[in-house]
Amino acid sequence: MATIQWNKLHSGDFSGVGALVTGGAGFIGSHLTEALLSLGATVVVLDDLSGGDFANLEPFGAKAGKRLESVKGSILDKATVERCAKGCRWIFHQAALGSVPRSVEQPELYTQVNVIGTLNVLEAARDGDSIVLPKVETMPVQPRSPYAASKVAGEALIRAYAVSYGLDTAALRYFNIFGPRQNANSAYAAVIAAFAKALIAGKRPVIYGDGEQSRDFTFVANVVHANLLAARSAKPVGGEVFNVAAGSRISVTALAGMMAPMLGRPDLKPVYEPERAGDVKHSAADLGLAQSLVGYKPIVDFPTGLAPTVEWYRQVIKPGA
Ligand SMILES: NC(=O)c1ccc[n+]([C@@H]2O[C@H](COP(=O)([O-])OP(=O)(O)OC[C@H]3O[C@@H](n4cnc5c(N)ncnc54)[C@H](O)[C@@H]3O)[C@@H](O)[C@H]2O)c1
Repeated sequence: MATIQWNKLHSGDFSGVGALVTGGAGFIGSHLTEALLSLGATVVVLDDLSGGDFANLEPFGAKAGKRLESVKGSILDKATVERCAKGCRWIFHQAALGSVPRSVEQPELYTQVNVIGTLNVLEAARDGDSIVLPKVETMPVQPRSPYAASKVAGEALIRAYAVSYGLDTAALRYFNIFGPRQNANSAYAAVIAAFAKALIAGKRPVIYGDGEQSRDFTFVANVVHANLLAARSAKPVGGEVFNVAAGSRISVTALAGMMAPMLGRPDLKPVYEPERAGDVKHSAADLGLAQSLVGYKPIVDFPTGLAPTVEWYRQVIKPGA
C-alpha cells in the first residue's frame, strides 16, 4: 500500500498518540498498523497468531523502532488486554475468527473469541483512557452462520457500551476486504486469495454454488481509511454501526473471469461445487451512513485495488505450492 499517502488524508491527529490494534498481525490489522505508524502513532499489536503472523509487520516494523510493540497473547486473556490497552487513546479491535464455514463447525469457539473477546476489549477500553473503539462487523442483521451471529452480538455490545458507559465506540461492518497480505494458505481462504493461489498453481478456481453470488469487494486501504476517520471523528460515533465497502458488486464468476487473464491463465475456467452452509447470495453496501457519520467515501476502487493484490500473490506464491 505504498501508494497511499496517509498523511495527506489524515493530517496530524495520530502523531505521538498510542493505539492498540488487536489482531494486528493479521491481514487488515497489519495494514492499519502500517498506516498508524506512518502517521506517527505508537502502536501495540496484540495477536495470538492463530491466523496472523508477525512477519506481516516486517515490511515496515523495523523502521518504526520502539513505536511498535508486538505482543503474542489472546483477547480472551483479560489481564493481557488490559495491559496492552493501558495508555492507548484508541483501540482498533480487529482480532476475530473470520471464516463462515469454520464457524458452522465450531460455533462455541467463535462465540468465545468474537463475543467474549470483544467484551474483554470493551472492558479494557472502559477501564483505561481509550476513547474510540472501531470494531468490525460484516454480516446483515439476519445472521445465517455462527460467525455472523457472533458479529451481531459484538455490534450489540459495542452499542450497549456507548449507551451504558459513555464509551466512544463505533462498529464498522466490513464487506469482503481484499489486498496484499490476505492469507491464501487456509482451507477457509477468502475468494480472491483462493483464486490467486489456484491460478498461480495452474489449477482451475473452485466456486461454491452457481457463481452468480455477488460481493462488494473492497480494497483494504478503504477499511484503513474508515477506521482512521472513525477514530478522528470530532463528534462521538455513539456505538453506531456503519458499512465499509467499495459500493459496487461483482459476481464470483465474473471475478474468476477477470483474475485468470491477469495471472496469464485465461484458459483456467472455474469448477463449480455445491454451495457452502452459511453463505449469503448477494452482498452490497449502502455507504450513506458511513458518509454522514464520519465522511467515509472509498479511496480505491475495485480494479485499482485488484491489480497490486494479484501482483503481490504472484510474488509470494510459488507455482508449485
Ligand atoms: N477480510 C474480510 O473480508 C473481512 C470482512 C468482514 C469482517 N472482517 C473482520 O475483520 C477483522 C480482521 O480480519 P482479517 O481479514 O484481517 O483476518 P485475519 O485472520 O488476517 O486477522 C485476524 C487476526 O486476529 C487474530 N486473532 C484471532 N483470534 C485471536 C485471539 N483470541 N486473540 C488475539 N488475536 C486473535 C488472528 O491471529 C489474526 O491475526 C476480523 O474481525 C474479521 O471478522 C474481515
